[in-house]
Amino acid sequence: MSAISIRSLQAMKQQEKFSMLTAYDATFAQQAADAGVEVLLVGDSLGNMIQGHDSTLPVTVADMAYHTANVARGNRRAQRPALIMTDLPFMSHGTVEQGLESARLVMQAGAHILKLEGDSWLIPLIESLSRQGVPVCAHLGLTPQSVNKFGGYRVQGREQDKADAMVEHAIALANAGADMILLECVPNELANRITAAVSVPVVGIGAGAGTDAQVLVMHDMLGLNPRPAKFVKNFLTDGRNIQQAFAAYVAEVKSGQFPAAEHGFSA
Ligand code: KIV
Ligand code: NA
Repeated sequence: MSAISIRSLQAMKQQEKFSMLTAYDATFAQQAADAGVEVLLVGDSLGNMIQGHDSTLPVTVADMAYHTANVARGNRRAQRPALIMTDLPFMSHGTVEQGLESARLVMQAGAHILKLEGDSWLIPLIESLSRQGVPVCAHLGLTPQSVNKFGGYRVQGREQDKADAMVEHAIALANAGADMILLECVPNELANRITAAVSVPVVGIGAGAGTDAQVLVMHDMLGLNPRPAKFVKNFLTDGRNIQQAFAAYVAEVKSGQFPAAEHGFSA
């Protein structure tokens, strides 16, 4: 089977849901791709899950490049390689120039698409990356790199004006060349509005079942987080092994069984 590409995912919008899972190393990357996960996210959540920090702020571009290279080696051994998405970490893309250099390092490590937290201020960088052939996913809503500004990890876009602004930002980012949008912890209704408003695939986490795709942190969906967020489901249940837990996640995303009502937020 041929590798998943940005074109395959685009073609799935409104046809078939796809799934994304974090991966930080070769072994789990291969297992997840072999279980049918379409996108492996080398998330800066590795700061929490791998490095033991309390936030993603300490993660560097070098850390992201290192884990991307490991994931890329595992993914290459999968029957159907997934698309590898890598986060640009905290303050590694404050200016266009800095963003381009950070992008070069993680793309050369093996990423196929970058994920950038931010709203319309990302537009000049996304335009520049797009011109240079680098796909981008714009991450809106709860952007954990801004935890200090938010004053905690909380649902975003509950107020009407904030919700309207998020829709406008998503449209502007897609027009600037963003190939995907990711929404974290937003009311289901707002996620549905954004999914309908843009032609690129929208991935959700804590955003309800109406988006084109779902993402979870691997450690969370294997039940390794002692204090899981509301949107998390443990798939390592019912006597499954890890491979079967990954496959169950993929199947439940495809069928629309996950996320259920209990995993979402209302306005
Ligand atoms: O770093 C990460 O794992 C993420 C997902 C939670 C979307 O950004
Ligand atoms: Na992240």
